[in-house]
Amino acid sequence: MKINEALRETITAAGQEHLLRALDALPENEQADFAAQLENVDFNALPGLIADYVLKRPEVAIPDDLGPAPYYPLAPENDEQKQLYRDAVARGEEMIRAGRVACLTVAGGQGTRLGFDGPKGTFPIGPVTGRPLFAYFAGGIRRTQEKYGVKIVWYLMTSQLNHAQTVDFFKKNSYFGLDADQVFFFTQGTMPAIGYDGKLLMNSKKSLALSPDGHGGTLLALRKSGALDAMKRDGVDVISYFQVDNPLVPVIDPKFIGLHALTSSQMSAVMLAKTNAMEKLGNFCVSGGRLQIIEYSDLPKTLAEKTLPDGSLAFIPGSPAIHVIDRAFVEELTAGGKLQLPWHRADKKIPFLDAEGNLVSPETPNGVKLESFIFDALPLARRTMVLECDRAEVFAPTKNRTGVDSVDSCRAMLVDRDARRLAAAGVKIPRDAEGNCTALIEISPALAVDAGDVARLAAARGIVEIASGEKICLE
Ligand code: UTP
Repeated sequence: MKINEALRETITAAGQEHLLRALDALPENEQADFAAQLENVDFNALPGLIADYVLKRPEVAIPDDLGPAPYYPLAPENDEQKQLYRDAVARGEEMIRAGRVACLTVAGGQGTRLGFDGPKGTFPIGPVTGRPLFAYFAGGIRRTQEKYGVKIVWYLMTSQLNHAQTVDFFKKNSYFGLDADQVFFFTQGTMPAIGYDGKLLMNSKKSLALSPDGHGGTLLALRKSGALDAMKRDGVDVISYFQVDNPLVPVIDPKFIGLHALTSSQMSAVMLAKTNAMEKLGNFCVSGGRLQIIEYSDLPKTLAEKTLPDGSLAFIPGSPAIHVIDRAFVEELTAGGKLQLPWHRADKKIPFLDAEGNLVSPETPNGVKLESFIFDALPLARRTMVLECDRAEVFAPTKNRTGVDSVDSCRAMLVDRDARRLAAAGVKIPRDAEGNCTALIEISPALAVDAGDVARLAAARGIVEIASGEKICLE
């Protein structure tokens, strides 16, 4: 398969002739896929990207007026706020019941830190059963549907690298009890990896080294896949957005949804109080009246460590990447099928084909992957809203195998949450001297999305006490 002359010229002008040589070296009947990859790359924009992000390190500009973002606190501070939160729950519930809310999970990442062979969502996280991450969200959706008497569509973003495996996993698991037609898979875009010399890397004789274009790619992918049209057709106008590695997240939180609507926000965010200045959470900041997130690695230490007179951190609001987004806002942002969020550079060890045609796995970073981030849409919104939530109820990220933000810490938090809900229902929970639960508890997410569900479940099953060392799973 030939690529057209104009594209050949653009590729040459972009300094990437090695790709044309590789294409021409292939037998004609093996050229099609590689040619299609080349057609998909924006070679006009490439020289600018290489100059700005690869040949030099982009500096994040910290505006002079940067301050911590305001937010609605976890506990209402006065009667007016108390009433607002009550109204928010009522509004959120009304919206869910009316079918105006859909779920969206981003599951296109490569999960490198977890080092697991397979899409991250297939990881067996359940503390007792090894139930996979995907099953947590499917269960949460099923219980929410039952509660509100409505069918909720789940939009699930994959990447080209894990799409087939993900869809296969859902089929094999009968969609975890959901109807096949309520899971809308869509695939994000890719970006070519770029070597430090500014040349696009290849990972075989007929393929570029491609990687997913970051969770910021969600917005354009929603449009290109027809997901936005489907939402509009179904009367969905609000999207509950969360990440595949956080099984603690409520798939839909009525209060968060309702407050988003009552404040006429276009994009809202959950906020957690950072536990220390250097915690690896994005920082909610404001500059020029606009909400923005500054990555933990980009916030100057002096600001990160700045304290208020009472000793607390000035830049306390951290982001667990949980959002509510208006469908109309995504439509507006991606009008004309285009959206360019800023790129973020990540230095990576990228397996590549060397000049002799051998695949090399480098031991140190050899190139750059460019990703866009969903939170860069926040400053583009006319109105935003940030709501503080309780970390123990919403955020248990599974990034690593052990240690901080790991499989271990996530399982412990899942057990703790269920133990807390059972204790609130009067069940006696075994605890060690530090207060940690000494039994393994897992409650099916399809049975309980809140403390009320757990109380009813405990009463119906006559559970009054759990013994230390016991493994208990309520299905
Ligand atoms: P992370 O940035 O933690 O990346 O993604 P990751 O791929 O899961 O893990 P590492 O960094 O390689 O170890 C946060 C969330 O965003 C999704 C991930 O699937 C995860 O839910 N994501 C990330 C995408 O959907 N697409 C991307 O291109 C990147």
